[in-house]
Amino acid sequence: MVASGTFGWGKEYSEYMDLNKLGAIVTKSITLKPREGNPPPRIVETPSGMLNSIGLQNEGLEHFLKEDLPFLAKFDTPTIVNIAGETVEEYAELAKRLSKETMVKAIEVNISCPNVKQGGMAFGVDPGLTKQVISAVRNATKQPIIAKLTPNVTDITVIGRAAVEAGADALSAINTIVGMALDLETGKSRLGRETGGLSGPAIRPIAVRMVYELARAVKVPVIGIGGIMTGNDAVEFLLAGARAVQVGTANFVDTAAPLRILAELHDYVHRHPRTLNLS
Ligand code: DHB
Repeated sequence: MVASGTFGWGKEYSEYMDLNKLGAIVTKSITLKPREGNPPPRIVETPSGMLNSIGLQNEGLEHFLKEDLPFLAKFDTPTIVNIAGETVEEYAELAKRLSKETMVKAIEVNISCPNVKQGGMAFGVDPGLTKQVISAVRNATKQPIIAKLTPNVTDITVIGRAAVEAGADALSAINTIVGMALDLETGKSRLGRETGGLSGPAIRPIAVRMVYELARAVKVPVIGIGGIMTGNDAVEFLLAGARAVQVGTANFVDTAAPLRILAELHDYVHRHPRTLNLS
């Protein structure tokens, strides 16, 4: 799958690849109302990684339903819609509206955005609030729910278990790690907002460790995310216990990355038919 926030709403990448070849498209987070996002600069390159501070910029639910979903409906690839809210009620309302759209195959609940004052990660660092959000979404839709977890916690299994108890059908991990980079001339942040979310190969060992922990703590599938640049990186997550993977930051480096990684994964499976237990 392509990871939320790194692939727009599909259209942006459609001229570079055949979207039908992807396992699923996870859209950038949508909110009930349009959001302008954070002040620029919003992206900074760091060693083996990237800091972002987008601030959930998007055109809002109505625009998504009118413009983006009909475009995605032209493809066979399942659409997974990522949702974000400032309150529990906003998450529930988004889920309720999306539950009427049969082409939405799953809802990924973003309780892990580090770049907004309200909502986002504030829910995902607290097991009680995680339960409240996921329960509200569970009551609003029959579609499969994926809870996207933040790594900015002491024990990710506590949050993962809370999400599953509240009705999550799967977990995706990890979202970005809160980071900071300073400009040596001004002494200020290189981002428009002080901190940002770190992604890319720099965070992969942390992500693999957290997926490993989650896969042993819950019975639902775990989707591995975190700096996957090659097929071998994807294999590492599958060996750690992930049942699927998402490719994120690689999309910013190479528009062909997801299909290349898929081909490399196929090669690995042919070379090691028994290493991954894919039955
Ligand atoms: C944003 C950044 C993230 O790392 C994330 O997980 C969700 C949203 C953002 O700033 O829009």
